[in-house]
Amino acid sequence: MFHWLEKHPFFFAVGVFVVIAYAGLIEVLPNFMEKARPIKGLKPYTVLELAGKEVYKKDNCIACHSQLIRPFKAETDRYGQYSMSGEYAYDRPFLWGSKRTGPDLHRVGRYRTPDWHANHMWNPKSVVPDSIMPAYKHQFTNVADLETAYAEAVTVKKVFNTPYGDDIKPGKAAFEKYKKEKILPEALKIAKAMKRDDLVKMVESGKVPEVVALVAYLERLK
Ligand code: HEC
Repeated sequence: MFHWLEKHPFFFAVGVFVVIAYAGLIEVLPNFMEKARPIKGLKPYTVLELAGKEVYKKDNCIACHSQLIRPFKAETDRYGQYSMSGEYAYDRPFLWGSKRTGPDLHRVGRYRTPDWHANHMWNPKSVVPDSIMPAYKHQFTNVADLETAYAEAVTVKKVFNTPYGDDIKPGKAAFEKYKKEKILPEALKIAKAMKRDDLVKMVESGKVPEVVALVAYLERLK
C-alpha cells in the first residue's frame, strides 16, 4: 500500500491532505460546540452601546485601530492588562483589527473621558496637535440607529447562540422605555459628560447623535 502510494504522487498528496485535515478537524470542531464564556463582571452591550459599535464599524475605525492588547511588556505598559478571550464574548463580529495607524483602543475607556472624545472626534488636532486622525463632524448631527442595533442584537443571538440569553432584557427594557418616552437617560448622561449643549439638546428632543452612541461604546472599552 505505502509502496504504491510512493509511486503515485497525486494520491499521496490526497492522502496527506486527508490526514492533516482530519487532525485539524479534531482540534477545531469541538470549539464550535462551546458557548462563549464571558469573563466575570462583563455585561452585555446596552442598545446604546451597540448603536455606537455600529458607528465604529460604519465609519471604519477598524482601518486604523485595533482592539487587542498583546501580552508583551511594551503593550501592557502602555495600555494595561492584555486582552482576554472572555472579554469578547458579546462581540459578533469581534473588532480586533490588524492595523495600528492609531493606538489600540481596547482599554481606552480607562484613560479618556467623554469630553475629551467630544473634542477629539470634532477635531483631533485640537487635543493632539500632530494627529493625523480625520475629524468626524458628521457624527454630531447624524442620528444613531437604535432600532437596527437592537434588531441586530436579537438576530445575532438567534443565529450564533451568543451568551446573551436573558441578559438582553436590560437593554430591551431601556429601549422599550425609550421608544415610549423618547428619551434615553443613559444617552443624556453621556451627552452631558461630553459638555456640548447641542448634543444634550438633541438627546432631549428624542434623537441620539451618532457621536453620543459612539462615546458610550468607547467608554465601555476598559
Ligand atoms: C486614518 C486613520 C484613523 C482612523 C480612520 C481613525 N483613527 Fe483614531 N486615531 C488615529 C491616530 C493616528 C491617532 C493618534 C493621534 C490622536 O490621538 O489623535 C488616533 C487616536 C484615537 C483615539 C485616542 C486614543 C488614545 O489612546 O489616546 C481615539 C479614542 C480614537 N482615535 C478613536 C477613533 C474612532 C472612534 C474612529 C472611528 C470613528 C477613529 N479613531 C478612526 C488614526 C485614525
